[in-house]
Amino acid sequence: AGDWIRTVTAQTPTNIAVIKYWGKRDENLILPVNDSISVTLDPAHLCTTTTVAVSPGFDQDRMWLNGKEISLSGGRYQNCLREIRARAAEVEDKERGIKIAKDDWQKLHVHIASYNNFPTAAGLASSAAGFACLVFALAKLMNAKEDHSQLSAIARQGSGSACRSLYGGFVKWIMGKEENGSDSLAVQLVDEKHWDDLVIIIAVVSSRQKETSSTTGMRDTVETSLLLQHRAKEVVPKRVVKMEDAIQKHDFASFAQLTCADSNQFHAVCLDTCPPIFYMNDTSHRIISCVEKWNRSEETPQVAYTFDAGPNAVLIARNRKTAALLLQRLLYFFPPSSDTDMSSYVLGDKSILK
Ligand code: PMV
Repeated sequence: AGDWIRTVTAQTPTNIAVIKYWGKRDENLILPVNDSISVTLDPAHLCTTTTVAVSPGFDQDRMWLNGKEISLSGGRYQNCLREIRARAAEVEDKERGIKIAKDDWQKLHVHIASYNNFPTAAGLASSAAGFACLVFALAKLMNAKEDHSQLSAIARQGSGSACRSLYGGFVKWIMGKEENGSDSLAVQLVDEKHWDDLVIIIAVVSSRQKETSSTTGMRDTVETSLLLQHRAKEVVPKRVVKMEDAIQKHDFASFAQLTCADSNQFHAVCLDTCPPIFYMNDTSHRIISCVEKWNRSEETPQVAYTFDAGPNAVLIARNRKTAALLLQRLLYFFPPSSDTDMSSYVLGDKSILK
C-alpha cells in the first residue's frame, strides 16, 4: 500500500496593507500591536502556487521553494504544520481507492512545492502569499474543516501579513485580545467586486533584498520607539474606523489620504527606531513628491501610495483612466533605463492593458 500519492494545488495572491501592521506583542504566536487593513491583489500578479502531496512512501516532511529545497525546521513552518495536522480529518477518495484515517495524519509525511510567479528577490511581499497558500493547501489535503478566518489564524503563525491573504477584496486583521491568539484573525470587509475600479501599479524601485528583515525591524521598533506606542494606541484605532468607512462608501479622497498618511507614519516609526531603519530610498521619496504634487493640482486625489519594508512603491489609482496616466508619468519621470535603479512595473489589475 506504499504506492499511492494524494496531491492538492492552491493559488494565493499577495496583499498590500493600507493600514500597516508593524510590531508584535507576542513574537512566537505573532500577535500584533494594532489592527491592520489590506487589499488582496489580482491572482494573475504576485501570487504563490503551492502543491502539497502525501504518500506512505515519504519518510519526512520536505519543501521546495521555486525548485530549491528549503528547510522546514523553522518554528513558523512547524507551527503551521502542527496546527493543520491537529485538525486533520478522515479522507476517502473512492475513485482512486485511497482511505486515510484521522489518526494516520500524525504518521504520514508531506512534500510541498511552492512557486512565486514573481522573482522572490524583488523584495515584494512573498511570505504573505506563501504561508496563506501553504496553510490553505494543507487544510484541503488533510480535510481540515475550518473556515477561512480560522485558517487565517494559523497562517498568521507563519507570517503575520499572511493571515490577510486568505480572502480577496479588502481584509481586516483584527489584533484580538486573547493571550493564546485565538481571536487574532482576518475577516473580509468587502469582496473584490465591491471597488473594482481601483487599479494597483507596483513600481519596482529596487530588486535588491531588504537589509532589515521585518522580524528584526519590528523587534527593535517595539523595544525602542515611543512613536510606535502612540501610533498603536491613539492613531491606528481611529484610522481603522475611518478606513472601513471610506472603503464602504468608495470614498477615494479619504481612502488616499488615510493610506498615504499611514504609510508615512509606518516609515516615521522605522526612523524613530534605535538603530533607525531606512526602507525607502531617494527614488521612493521622489515618487511620493510626484504623487503629492499631482494630487494637489487636482480637485480631488487621483492616486494613493504606500510602501512596505522596502523601497518599492505600491500606487493605487482611482480608476483605469488615472492608472493609464500614472503609468505614462512613471515611465516619463522614471524610465526603466535611467540612472535611477527603477527596473520595472507590475500591474495589479490586467484590465488596464486592454
Ligand atoms: O508579515 P511580515 O512579517 O512580512 O510583516 C509585514 C509588514 C508590512 O508589510 C511592512 C506591513 C503589512 O501590514 O503588511
